[in-house]
This record gives sequence, C-alpha cells and structure tokens, in this order.
Amino acid sequence: MSADKIITIDGPAASGKSSVARLLANHLGWACINTGNMYRAITLGLLKAGVDVHDEAAVVTALPTIPLENVLVDGRNLILLSGQEVENELNSEDVNNSVSHVAKVPQVRTQLVAMQRDLGLAQPSVMEGRDIGTVVFPEASAKFYIDASEEVRARRRGDQGLSDSVRERDRMDSTRKTAPLMAAADAVIIDSSELSLQEVVDKIVALLPSRGVITSGKASSYAA
Ligand code: C5P
Repeated sequence: MSADKIITIDGPAASGKSSVARLLANHLGWACINTGNMYRAITLGLLKAGVDVHDEAAVVTALPTIPLENVLVDGRNLILLSGQEVENELNSEDVNNSVSHVAKVPQVRTQLVAMQRDLGLAQPSVMEGRDIGTVVFPEASAKFYIDASEEVRARRRGDQGLSDSVRERDRMDSTRKTAPLMAAADAVIIDSSELSLQEVVDKIVALLPSRGVITSGKASSYAA
C-alpha cells in the first residue's frame, strides 16, 4: 500500500473532522482510522491504573504496561484495552481533561505513530487526528485540515451533550513541542463553520483527483 491510498484529515477539537472522515471513508469504501481515540484509550488506561497524567516520568514508566490493541471492524478502528472494548468510556470528562497531557509525551506519540502507520498502510485509509499530514503520513498527497470557529466548535460539542474543554485542549495541542496541531504546508484548509458535513465531504471528494487519489467509485452513498 502506498501513500496515494491515504487521505489525511487534521484539525482542532470538534471541527467536524471525525464525522467528515467517517462519511468520506464510507463513500470511498476505505477504512476510517480515528487516532484521537488511541490517545484517549492510553489516557483511560493510565487513569484506570492510577497514574498521575501530569507526571510525565510516571506516564513514561507506565506506558509499556498499558495493553492497547487496535482492530478494524466494519472499516473502523476499534480500540481494546486489556482485550476489552472501551469506546463508550473514551469521551468521559476525566479523559477529556487528561488526554492532552498524555498526548504531549514524546514516548506516547512514538508508540502510537508506529501503530498508526502500520494500520494506515494495511489498506486504503482515511486517517484523522492532529499530526497525520505533518508527522504520521507526511508523504501523503491528499491532505485536508478542517477548521471551524471556536464558537461553532463549542456549540457542536454542547449539542452532542459532551462537556469538553475544547479551548484548553486546543491550546495545549497547538503549543506542545512534539507534533503540535497544525496544518501541513500542502494541506487544503476547509473552514466548516458555515458548511454542513455533506458539503465538506463533497468539497474533499471533488479535490481528490487533483491530489492524486484515484477512487474506484465503488461506493457512492454517504451513509454515516
Ligand atoms: O480527536 P480527539 O479530539 O478525540 O483527540 C483527543 C486528543 O488526542 C486531542 O486533544 C490531542 O491531545 C490528542 N491527539 C493527538 N494527535 C492525534 C490525535 C489526537 O495529539 N493525531
């Protein structure tokens, strides 16, 4: 598998990138890989183990003991902690408040980036996160950065019934030393504030041929 079968989607919290990635992957018949859930799962594992996530040395020491696995189910990556599916625990308030502290630790990123590259190269994939176009797949030709105004993003999270410190996470994610949140120099930036998810996906699909992605047109519905 080569990087012309990877589409990278980065952006801040609640920019709509996860939903866009899922719709796009369904449209193409490609896998959808949510890397935020991997950082969330490690964070959950550390919290369950009683590790102080503000203590970087403690995080690094505990890291090898967190039994994280990724499996693809129906084209989506599902994360197992100690063999158990934990998806419904990944958006808890504790995880929201802790994940950016864990994600700034270089050893955490090295481990997850290796996992993400293996997964992405195993099949055509849409991969979303913060550093996919800059660090995980800098060689990809189809890179998108989805943004939205802070107000719109806070409202979207509220509408999902989630309490999330979006602003603080974005501040930490964009100012950390290792792999900060930013658009790759060659990414197409799409502001989704005034667009529906469908419109964002349409824009991306229209740009794919010019970005070297040949799609088979196998699937054509935007089923969620
Ligand atoms: O995408 P989501 O909001 O679920 O990501 C949760 C957190 O995981 C982010 O706030 C960020 O700290 C971290 N993350 C990251 N790099 C990625 C994906 C997520 O640092 N590629």
